[in-house]
Amino acid sequence: MTGDEAEPMLIGDMMTGGYGKGADILHECTIAVDAGQIAVIVGPNGAGKSTAMKAVFGMLTVREGAVRLDGEDITALTPQDRVAKGMAFVPQTSNIFTSMTVEENLEMGAFLRRDGIAQTMEQIYELFPILREKRRQAAGELSGGQRQQVAVGRALMTEPRVLMLDEPTAGVSPIVMDELFDRIIEVARTGISILMVEQNARQALEIADKGYVLVQGRNAYTGTGAELMADDEVRRSFLGG
Ligand SMILES: Nc1ncnc2c1ncn2[C@@H]1O[C@H](COP(=O)(O)OP(=O)(O)OP(=O)(O)O)[C@@H](O)[C@H]1O
Ligand SMILES: [Mg+2]
Repeated sequence: MTGDEAEPMLIGDMMTGGYGKGADILHECTIAVDAGQIAVIVGPNGAGKSTAMKAVFGMLTVREGAVRLDGEDITALTPQDRVAKGMAFVPQTSNIFTSMTVEENLEMGAFLRRDGIAQTMEQIYELFPILREKRRQAAGELSGGQRQQVAVGRALMTEPRVLMLDEPTAGVSPIVMDELFDRIIEVARTGISILMVEQNARQALEIADKGYVLVQGRNAYTGTGAELMADDEVRRSFLGG
């Protein structure tokens, strides 16, 4: 880092690593997000997007490189310790308890907290009104888009400073996707940083302050969302022309 460059709020810096004793999946991969901004990771299937998110959240050993939050090296911390420091993560799969009600899912999200839970839950119901309506229903009975709202709501229950989302719009219709993106923008406006993986690359880069294209565990292209959308090669290779 050069002296005139501000340290991002959260950065996975030159991360190299893989699963267990297996081969490296990430190769000097860097992803970061600034305070209150939206950073988006895109790239082909198997590029290592989810792996990069897991590495930043501490679910994977980073063999080289580091993860820093507000300049503090947190590379050695467990995911639970990272939650205590203000990070929240919605994984790509199995991100809700389907047999529990919507409200129980939100309560589970607050397991580290002692007070103020009702107030936070109220904020989440204001952000996602349908969840208030369905709060007594089993989360597994909800539509795909509503389940994703439960997952995001549950992550917000810890009042994070950084919200990490792995494909929050997977499997939902374009209309529901637009709605979810609007809610994500709303969350970012409250000052929460968003680090998100997205399959809907074009739409996601439209709302991104910063974009990362990962290919085979490496940074292929990095820029503002607008820069990446304007890049001919990025458009041709990753945005369908
Ligand atoms: N738990 C795991 N154990 C071992 N290898 C894994 C594990 N999860 C993923 N991989 C491997 O890591 C590589 C990157 O996978 P990853 O899930 O990070 O890609 P991705 O970019 O998120 O893909 P997708 O767009 O399909 O979600 C793949 O080769 C995959 O097989
Ligand atoms: Mg993935």
